[in-house]
Amino acid sequence: HPSLRHCSHFPAAPTNSRNYSSNAASTDRMATRDAGKERNFMEEQNFRRAQAFRSVLVQVPSAQFAGALQQQCQEFGLVKSMFHYRQHDKDFILTEMESRDAVSGLVTAGGHQKRDDIVPVRTRLLDGSGLKRSKPVTGDLLLVEDCFSPLENIDNELRGLTDISAQMDALYQRAKLPELGCRLRYFISSQIEDAISGVFPCNRVYLFGSSVNGFGHQNSDVDLILDFDVAHTDKIVSDSSLRFAAKCAAGNERVQTQRSLELLADHLQYLLPGYSNVQRILLARVPIVKFNHEVSGTQCDLSITNMTGLIMSDYLFTLGQIDERLRALVVTIRRWAKAQRLTNPHPGRWITNFTLTIMAVFFMQQRHLLPPLNQLKRDLPRHEPAGNGFDDEMKTLLVEFFEFYSSFDFKRQAISVIEGVAYPKPDFGSLFIENPVETNLNICKNLSADELDRVVVSIRTAVWSLQGSPDSSSDGGPGILKLFTEFGKEHKVSAQRPQDATIVSGYFDGSQRDSSPSRKYMPDQVVV
Ligand code: CTP
Ligand code: MG
Repeated sequence: HPSLRHCSHFPAAPTNSRNYSSNAASTDRMATRDAGKERNFMEEQNFRRAQAFRSVLVQVPSAQFAGALQQQCQEFGLVKSMFHYRQHDKDFILTEMESRDAVSGLVTAGGHQKRDDIVPVRTRLLDGSGLKRSKPVTGDLLLVEDCFSPLENIDNELRGLTDISAQMDALYQRAKLPELGCRLRYFISSQIEDAISGVFPCNRVYLFGSSVNGFGHQNSDVDLILDFDVAHTDKIVSDSSLRFAAKCAAGNERVQTQRSLELLADHLQYLLPGYSNVQRILLARVPIVKFNHEVSGTQCDLSITNMTGLIMSDYLFTLGQIDERLRALVVTIRRWAKAQRLTNPHPGRWITNFTLTIMAVFFMQQRHLLPPLNQLKRDLPRHEPAGNGFDDEMKTLLVEFFEFYSSFDFKRQAISVIEGVAYPKPDFGSLFIENPVETNLNICKNLSADELDRVVVSIRTAVWSLQGSPDSSSDGGPGILKLFTEFGKEHKVSAQRPQDATIVSGYFDGSQRDSSPSRKYMPDQVVV
C-alpha cells in the first residue's frame, strides 16, 4: 500500500533515552475495559496472545498522524485500539485491529522502501512515513496516549506521603507494568513466532518471568521460551498415516538447542527489523540469546523449551491474584534491595529478585495469608483491599517481613513454599530455597555466603530504620524512602561488591537443569 511500508532497518538506538508521553489515566481506563473479568494465568496468556497477533506497530512522523493511520487501517477492518508512545525520539503507534484477517490484509498491502540495500522482509512492524496527515477519520479517533511515566521522580511523590502503607500503594501503582508495556511484550513474542512460522508453523513463544507473573515493571527484562512444535512437545498423537519427513537432530539435545538458538540469533540480527544487539550465550547452563527490542526499549532473553519458568510464573501470578498485597510488598522489597545494591542486573553470586519474591511468598504463608503451593487451587478466597488502596496492614507486612528474616536461621533452615514450611537444610549452600517446580533443586544455589551476610545486615538495618522516627528526613526521607537510600557508611564498606565475582551467563541462577520439561505439571494448552 502506498502509505505503509515494511520496516527493514532501524538505526542503532542511543542508550537510555526513554521519552514516553504520559497519560496514565486513559491507559488505566483501557486496561480496565479490556480486563473484563479476572482471567487466570493461561486465560490471560491466550487473551494477550490473540490481541498481539491482531496488532501492528507503526512508526509515524508524529502523534498527529494517528488519524491518518486509523483511516488507513480501517480500509482493512475495524480498529480496536491505538497506543502512542515515543522511543528514542521516534513516534510509534501500536494499533490493534478487530481480526487477524484485517491485519493480514493491511500487511499484505504494505509496500517496501524504495532502496536497494534492504532485506525485503514483511513483518507487522510498519513504516508510516508515507501517511498523509490531512486524511480525515471516519468515526471516533481512538488514540490512547500512553504512559510509561518514568519512575525517576517517584521519590518526590513518595516524600509527599508520610504514611508507609500509602507510599507502598503509590509505588506499586506507579511501578507496575502498564497496559502498553504488557501489549508490547506480547507483540515481541508474536513477532518472533511469525518470523519462524514458515518452517515451524506450530511453534509457540511463551512469555514468562516478571512480564507475566504480576511482579513486572516497566524496566523488567522480557523472558521468552520458544517451543518449536507445541503438538510434538505435548505428544499429541495424529490419526494421519502420514508423517513429516525430518532431519535427525544434530548431536545431543544440548547441541541441538545451541544450534537452534544460533539460527534464531541470526534471524533476529540479520532479518527482523526492530531488533538489535543480539548476543549468543550458548555455553551457559541454560543457553540463551539476549537481544534488544529497540523500538520498545526492552531487553529480551530467549531460551528453548524449558517450561519450568512458565509453570513458576503461573504459581506467582495466581498467588498475586489471591492477595494483591504480595505484589505491592515485593515492589517495595525489590526497590529496597536495588538501593542497597543487594541485587544486580547480571546473574551471579548475589540474591535475585526472584529469590526475594519467593521469600515474600514464604513470609506471607507463615502469616497464613497465602496457601502452600501444594494447596493452590483456582478460585481461592481473595483479600479485598479496603477503601481506595491498601489498608494500613501493608506497613505491618513490610515491617514484619524484615523482622521475620532478621531472625531466620538461614544456617540450618531451608524454605519450601510448596509445603509452606521451613525444614533442615539438605546441603551446605548459604541459603536453600526449594525450587517449587523441580523440588530437588535450590533456586538460590549461586548466592554466596558473604552476599547472604550482606542481605542479613541490610534486613536488620531495615528493621532498625523502619522503627525510627516516621518523619525523619535526615536519613533518606520519611517512611519507606529510608529504605531506598543506601544505608550508612559502615554498611557501605561491607556492601561493596567483589570485583572478581564470576558472572554466570544465563538467567537461571545455577539451579536449573537444561531443557527438561517438568514431569510434575504441564500447563494447559495455549490456543488462539
Ligand atoms: N526462574 C526459576 N528458577 C530460578 C530462576 C528463575 O524458575 N532459579 C524463573 C522464574 O519463573 C522467574 C523467571 O525464571 O520469574 C525469570 O527469571 P528472572 O528474569 O531472573 O526473574 P524475574 O522474575 O523475571 O524478575 P526480573 O524483573 O528481575 O527480571
Ligand atoms: Mg525477568
